[in-house]
Amino acid sequence: MILKASQRENILPLPIVLISTISKEGIRNAAPWSNFTPILRPLDEIVLASWIKRDTLNNIRQTGEFVANIPPVGMEDAVMVCARNYPPEVDEFEEADLKARPSVRVKAPGIDGCLAWAECTLQEEIVRDKFVLVIGKVVHLEVDDRFFSVQGEMDFQRAKPMGVILGQNGMSFTYPEFSGRHAEYKEMFQSPAIRKKQSV
Ligand SMILES: Cc1cc2nc3c(=O)[nH]c(=O)nc-3n(C[C@H](O)[C@H](O)[C@H](O)COP(=O)(O)O)c2cc1C
Repeated sequence: MILKASQRENILPLPIVLISTISKEGIRNAAPWSNFTPILRPLDEIVLASWIKRDTLNNIRQTGEFVANIPPVGMEDAVMVCARNYPPEVDEFEEADLKARPSVRVKAPGIDGCLAWAECTLQEEIVRDKFVLVIGKVVHLEVDDRFFSVQGEMDFQRAKPMGVILGQNGMSFTYPEFSGRHAEYKEMFQSPAIRKKQSV
């Protein structure tokens, strides 16, 4: 089956991140974001894609800061309230019944009940006609100890970080399942020759 090129968003599971910001007037904002990714391992920058017309983007531009909150499954209704197009003077924490969590390095509050909080500062914008790629630097990263090992590894089967699969008329919320296969990073650096030798 051939899909339209614009359906490329349907062909892979996406993360859901709640981006929290404050305006220069101090109004709190929260909005779900799926176009969000770390830029390579093991660096400390992230990138998010934003339509030009977003209060989140305006707030990031005004304050140079934001928090990427990782919601668990169970927060779907709050996510969908935050996805509504409220005017900038509306406090979206109140609308979605979100409890603020003080941040350490930025003024924007985090969201209580999330699994992790990446406090970020604006590094760079790549501006196009319809969208902006926002590059942020993570300046403070904190996680809920109940769902992470001391090495910072997520127990994802218990934590259930929220994801989404997009479809024709809507979206289905998801969470990850272990496939049964774990791989050490060093497997990636095994030379083909060594592998061949081992299999002899
Ligand atoms: C699951 C989900 C993912 C979304 N991802 C993005 C995104 O990556 N970029 C974007 O610009 N809007 C995205 N949106 C839409 C915004 O969340 C929505 O327009 C929101 O009202 C923006 O709020 P703001 O104007 O307060 O920033 C997403 C919405 C949902 C429900």
